[in-house]
Order: sequence, then C-alpha cells, then structure tokens
Amino acid sequence: MNQSKVCILGGSGFVGRRLAKLLTDGGRPVTVLTRHRERNRDLLVRPELSVVECDVYDPGRLAGHFHGADAVVNLVGILNSSRHKNQTFTTAHLKLSEIVLEAMNWSGVRRLLHMSASNASADGPSEYLKTKGAAENLLKMRSMQGEFDTTIFRPSVIFGPGDSFTNRFADLLRRIPLVFPLACPDSRLQPVHVDDVVTCFANAIDNPKTFGQTYELCGPGSYTLYELVAMIAAAIGVRRKIVRLSDRQSEMQAKAMQYLPGQPFTPDNYKSLQVDSVCKKPFPAVFGIEPRAMEDTISTYLTS
Ligand SMILES: NC(=O)c1ccc[n+]([C@@H]2O[C@H](COP(=O)([O-])OP(=O)(O)OC[C@H]3O[C@@H](n4cnc5c(N)ncnc54)[C@H](OP(=O)(O)O)[C@@H]3O)[C@@H](O)[C@H]2O)c1
Repeated sequence: MNQSKVCILGGSGFVGRRLAKLLTDGGRPVTVLTRHRERNRDLLVRPELSVVECDVYDPGRLAGHFHGADAVVNLVGILNSSRHKNQTFTTAHLKLSEIVLEAMNWSGVRRLLHMSASNASADGPSEYLKTKGAAENLLKMRSMQGEFDTTIFRPSVIFGPGDSFTNRFADLLRRIPLVFPLACPDSRLQPVHVDDVVTCFANAIDNPKTFGQTYELCGPGSYTLYELVAMIAAAIGVRRKIVRLSDRQSEMQAKAMQYLPGQPFTPDNYKSLQVDSVCKKPFPAVFGIEPRAMEDTISTYLTS
C-alpha cells in the first residue's frame, strides 16, 4: 500500500477522527492540525498519527506543516457563525480555502481533498451553503488552471457513531416529553454513513481518476425529516407524538432556538433546509463501495 503522508485540517471532528483512523490503520502517516491540541490528546494513541496545534489561518505556519506531505485534506466546516468566537462562515469556508491553497503553493503540495456539502452554491439559500459554494468555485478555478489536483466531496447529512445529527435528535427526543414539535418536517435528506464518506476520501487520495472531480455522496435511502426523526425515536425506544410545524412556525422555532446553548437550530440552518439534500446520481462507482442504509445501522450506535 502507498504510504503517502496526509495532513488533515478539521481532523479532530466527527468525520476527521474516522478518516484519521482509517488512514493510519492502513499504515499512512497522518498529521492532524488542530487549534486545540490538549483537547485532542486522545488521538495520540496511534503511532502513525501526529496531532499538531496550529493557527490554520496563518499561511506561513500552515505551509511549514504541509511541507513533506503528499496530500492535504480540508474538513473544516461550521454550521453556525459565532460573534463570540469570532467565527464567520466566510472565514471558516472561503477564507480558509484561500489560505490552504496559498500554503500548498508555498510548500509544493499539489493534492487537495476538500469537504463541501450537498447544495453548496454561491447563490444558495443560506450563508452555510453560499460560502461552501464560493469555496468550491475558487478550488475548481485553481484546479482548472493546473495548479492543484483537487477532489471535492458534497455529502448529504452524515450519520454514524458520534454524529451531531441523529445524536442531537435522540437527545432532544429524550428530553422533550410527549409531543415533539418538528421544524421543516417535509425537507428531504439522503443520509450517508460516515465510514462510507471516509472510505471515499481514502480511496481518492492516490487515484488520478478523481483529480479535478466533484462527487455527491448520499446513502441508498431518501427520507423526509419527519421519517428520519421517527426512525431515531424508534431506535432509542421513545414514543413521542411528532408534530409537524408549518413553515412560519419552523422559522420562528429557529429564531428562538438559536439562543439555546449549542445553538441546536438557527435561522441559517432553517434556510439550508429549504432545499432537499439528495443526490441526482447513484453513488460514485470509482470508490468501489455500496453505501450502507441508515435503517440497517442506526441501532448499532443509538441505543435506548
Ligand atoms: N456532519 C455532517 O452531517 C456534514 C454534512 C455535510 C458536510 N459536512 C462537512 O464535513 C466537514 C466535517 O464535518 P464534521 O461533522 O466532522 O464537523 P466537526 O465535527 O464540527 O469538525 C470540524 C472540525 O473543524 C475544525 N473547526 C471548527 N471550526 C473551525 C473554525 N472556525 N476554524 C478552523 N477550524 C475549525 C475543528 O477542529 P479543531 O477544533 O481541532 O481545530 C473541528 O474538529 C465540514 O466541512 C462540514 O461542513 C458535514
């Protein structure tokens, strides 16, 4: 197996941890760049894995860490902006992509795997989707100019152990007794398992067929949000009457819930849900896997 070195931004998160594990299990040396090394000390148990604290917005430092890597993976993404943390969608998605390219240029790394999102578009309905789309446009332009070998992934919602989607709904379902008011119940999603997503990243790294390509990643089943929440309730063994909120009520719920700790639902999330997060094409054959279905796997990690 090729032992090319991989540098991951956002490697301490839900997807990043699974990817770092898969790559190091295959014997690849991986460096996870994090803003908080102490918080991610648990990753250090793997000999092939280095965890390095770094200001990822400093292109000079980033270039130093990229030096000698064969590929860079950028998984950084935020679902909510935060004035308090000085974190905006534009900075985390677009500005950081510019900085990553600059640092790759300085360090002579050509290969980039970039995590975007289903429906990302510079004229998308939410700031999340607009800034993810603007970052994609930048990367495609620079890739077409021949400067980088870029692969972009656009998954629908990602589920699996430690996710924030099914686990957050499970948590809310447990806490809210009897009646569960659900915003955007008819929004359609096509969840994809985290291990299928990271397998695509791992299989793409050295495969030139994936250079310059953009892949949508979805699981085999498409469901409304109502159907998904009902599936989560069944998996954790709680009985709730799930009440469909109207569009106006959904928007009001988002306005109210943005002030709760952890911002479980915000106006920007509400806007993202105005477009169905489903794939137009079958799962990309180039990765050689069949994606797993949510109903076959959810009970393996969500328990009553
Ligand atoms: N999860 C999903 O359902 C889903 C669906 C579609 C697309 N995506 C995309 O997939 C990627 C990974 O998602 P995830 O669920 O693994 O996210 P996650 O668990 O929140 O992890 C993201 C990582 O990015 C880093 N990060 C967060 N905010 C940052 C900021 N403002 N500046 C720089 N770094 C920051 C953090 O690393 P440190 O704190 O260690 O620096 C964090 O571990 C994201 O780009 C996301 O938009 C996710």
